[in-house]
Amino acid sequence: MRLVLIGAPGAGKGTQASKICKYFDIPHLSTGNIFRKNIKQRTKMGLKVEKLISQGKLVPDEITMEVVNNKLDEKECRKGFLMDGFPRTVRQAEFLDQILLKRSQKIDFAINLLVEDHIIIERMSGRRICSGCGTSFHIVRLPPFKNGQCDFCGDVLMQRPDDNADTVLQRLDVYHAQTGPIIGFYKDKGILIEVAGMESVEETANEIFKNLGVLDVSN
Ligand code: AP5
Ligand code: MG
Repeated sequence: MRLVLIGAPGAGKGTQASKICKYFDIPHLSTGNIFRKNIKQRTKMGLKVEKLISQGKLVPDEITMEVVNNKLDEKECRKGFLMDGFPRTVRQAEFLDQILLKRSQKIDFAINLLVEDHIIIERMSGRRICSGCGTSFHIVRLPPFKNGQCDFCGDVLMQRPDDNADTVLQRLDVYHAQTGPIIGFYKDKGILIEVAGMESVEETANEIFKNLGVLDVSN
């Protein structure tokens, strides 16, 4: 299964990606996570993208497309993958099609998570990320068992530097202007699945699985 997951910042892409990848046993490719890892490790690429990300702007297509192209060469991606946060521009979407074609592959479905902007703002202000494994929590809606500590690896939970109110508004503007058009791109191909992402994490996941033709998630 080869999937693309589209949605505004905070729509729940990372949260749903974990469930989908677990079910299909495919790798979760998040360009945002790759950039954050590079920033943490102070790599050359990390230093180039740090300021743009903290300002809520997109990383240039050239850098992002190279990251994805390299990632697709990894053995684990041969069986399929879920792209979370890529593509984010029509140019990236066209590039993805081209590099998949070279590998005789194609995207099966593009899932668009629909969440209204006011809900996004509430979600981002309460989001906490594990500094170890990157799992997302929400202080009210999806709290960890122990305050400030990850349920899975026990590491400290932190707020993402781009989750402050001003940057969230900027990210939403960028999303509507630059990423919005890729929804039409996948609709025209007949592979777009639109799912309301305003319900609970479980209800949203069930809706995604239903649209993917999975009737019993426990299997
Ligand atoms: P990226 O890391 O992709 O961030 P994003 O798209 O802004 O999305 P988020 O990760 O913030 O949110 P999410 O949709 O994953 O939501 P989550 O599941 O965490 O990108 C970061 C930056 O990197 C970009 O701004 C850009 O600069 C750069 N970048 C990345 N890819 C790029 C590309 N292709 N091109 C150029 N630049 C790129 O959920 C959010 C919160 O809500 C959590 O607290 C969660 O617990 C909670 N929640 C989730 N679902 C629900 C629910 N159903 N009900 C209640 N709460 C929920
Ligand atoms: Mg995410």
